[in-house]
Amino acid sequence: MAAHELYETARAIVADHRGILAADESSGTIKKRFDAIGVESTEESRRFYRGMLFTAPGMEEYVGGVILYDETIRQRADDGTPFPEVLASKDVIPGIKVDTGAHDLAGFPGEKVTEGLDGLRARLEEYVELGARFAKWRAVITIGDGIPSRACIRANAHALARYAALCQEAGIVPIVEPEVLMDADNTIERCYEVTASTLHWVFHELGVQGVDLRGTLLKPNMVISGKGSAVQASAETIAEQTIDCFLRHVPAAIPGVVFLSGGQSEVQATENLNAINRVGGPWPLSFSYGRALQQSALSTWAGDAANADAAQALYLHRARMNSLAVAGEWSVELEEAVTASS
Ligand code: 13P
Repeated sequence: MAAHELYETARAIVADHRGILAADESSGTIKKRFDAIGVESTEESRRFYRGMLFTAPGMEEYVGGVILYDETIRQRADDGTPFPEVLASKDVIPGIKVDTGAHDLAGFPGEKVTEGLDGLRARLEEYVELGARFAKWRAVITIGDGIPSRACIRANAHALARYAALCQEAGIVPIVEPEVLMDADNTIERCYEVTASTLHWVFHELGVQGVDLRGTLLKPNMVISGKGSAVQASAETIAEQTIDCFLRHVPAAIPGVVFLSGGQSEVQATENLNAINRVGGPWPLSFSYGRALQQSALSTWAGDAANADAAQALYLHRARMNSLAVAGEWSVELEEAVTASS
């Protein structure tokens, strides 16, 4: 595939203030989400739930790409249409999670390295056949006493770069996701420091492996206070710190930055994205949210098909709010207006 097609795909995903729905929860993660609403996780319940999101009328106005899981990319909508076709027919680009999860990093207790490089070339070929045009690989960096280590950051950066090079060889846009977790009690300053170092090594390794940044999307965490920190930075501070960190460490050639939500509430993830876009940078700054797009929809659905319309409406609302945030045009009044009319 010609390089310009990769560039076009990467740009199309985030064009017109659109973002990404991350619906690539592994079997273990989706089971946790379903357990929380008392729904049994079966192949059929997972198919129904994902199908409900993918067929939500008009979602293509706000969502330019959907990340699927290995099971999901092979599943079909109620009318028998394969999910990748359902999406592509709406001008939504199908993507696929290709890593096989974060595993303990030998010699570094409490730290993880993401696996999945073995056999990846062949798997990518199959995913292309199944309709995938972009991929995702998530590395996990944990903040704690004396961690992350340089070894953990470099091992994960190396794996991300090897993955990204294989994707581009296969004609697939890699989403490079080095997630610095927000679960600890660290300050925003510590998050800044760890995010800066992580981004530095990720772009170093991408350069070493010859990855073309123009055909690559970055999926980072925001620079944010740890969940357990007594001091929680405001949206404005998060925005300033995030953009300051990225201007220093993210090359302008990157055609899109798509944030993960990482455990922020739905409205918080929107408010922060809006503040980030008010500051702005040389890249489109959009979303690739899992929980922050699905939480309300998931709990409203609660496993009952009779709730599907209401669940779709909540998902579409979140998608619209986030698209407005990409334009820097979201306000809390828009949230309240919907609550009042629903
Ligand atoms: P969250 O938005 O729930 O963090 O999920 C995004 C994702 O895809 C993490 O890999």
